[in-house]
Amino acid sequence: MPIIKVEGLSKKFGELTAVNNVSFEVEEGAIFGFLGPNGAGKTTTISILCTLLSPTSGRASIAGHDCAKEPSEVRKAIGIVFQDTTLDKDLTAYENLMFHAYLYDVKKGEMRKRIDDALHFVGLFERRDDLVKKFSGGMKRRLEVARGIIHRPRVLFLDEPTLGLDPQSRANLWEFIIGLQREYNTTIFMTTHYMEEAEVCNKIAIIDNGDIIASGTPDELKKTVGGDVIYINTPDNQKAKLEIERLFNVAVTEKDNELFLPALNGDASIPEIINAVGGKVLSVRLQRPTLNDVFLRMTGRQIREQNGSAEDTVRESVRAYRRRHG
Ligand SMILES: Nc1ncnc2c1ncn2[C@@H]1O[C@H](COP(=O)(O)OP(=O)(O)O)[C@@H](O)[C@H]1O
Ligand SMILES: [Mg+2]
Repeated sequence: MPIIKVEGLSKKFGELTAVNNVSFEVEEGAIFGFLGPNGAGKTTTISILCTLLSPTSGRASIAGHDCAKEPSEVRKAIGIVFQDTTLDKDLTAYENLMFHAYLYDVKKGEMRKRIDDALHFVGLFERRDDLVKKFSGGMKRRLEVARGIIHRPRVLFLDEPTLGLDPQSRANLWEFIIGLQREYNTTIFMTTHYMEEAEVCNKIAIIDNGDIIASGTPDELKKTVGGDVIYINTPDNQKAKLEIERLFNVAVTEKDNELFLPALNGDASIPEIINAVGGKVLSVRLQRPTLNDVFLRMTGRQIREQNGSAEDTVRESVRAYRRRHG
């Protein structure tokens, strides 16, 4: 039985349909990635699941409890890490966790151990008596994860947990989140628009304008785009090119002393191609479509066009300058 079940869920704010007839299921112990651009309906969906908003229609349940009808049962089963920090900056790390443990009725005798375990888990035990206002962004986010797991929830919701963190802190945070899945079999429901991060998910749903436009494992989604490319370098590329073209009936291109060819199912094709050139291979690599390519194919847009790279920004301002100045 799936631990999260969402059926025909919709949420309207006046005229605006923020979430439109959305359905999906998440298996216990999975890392589920909910992807989509700004304004897609991710936070709205999470808020309904976390019993903070009621749906306009449809239903959602967690661990068998209806999110609208049994909110207190649902709340016992979940932990939440929201985008905006809700830590008390004038309390220490330990005090923040203690406060949360009281809220969740963690037994007095167990409280200390639970808090210590959580602090160890996110690597902040040594800093437990420091005021939170002295913490970096990455440390605060880790403390929030510690707080989210104090009551040992079966499902942990993380809404854009790595937004605004530097790459090192992002990597750290991911380590802890994956550790949670391994050690406690915690189900992770997270949103992100860093596509590389979505690669760690066991399952993904992509939401755009309130609609789920695709779902599956990262591999399944990438296969829908097709377009693996195999790069191969051999001692005699001319001969290899002719041989591969003859056997597989594909066009092989040579560029920068390397051959490349399209393949529908790259990893299965590599051994066949190596065989075709008699095992004489200097190097071989596979380029896969990214999840960003999946989003682009589905919507015609980049998922992060609102806040792309510095290069994108420069390119865009050059374009704008040219438009104005002809
Ligand atoms: N309380 C609200 N009142 C009115 N509109 C809202 C409210 N919350 C969200 N919205 C709108 O619903 C849409 C989905 O928002 P949200 O779920 O926050 O998207 P995401 O988290 O994917 O960025 C957006 O157009 C947003 O402006
Ligand atoms: Mg959001």
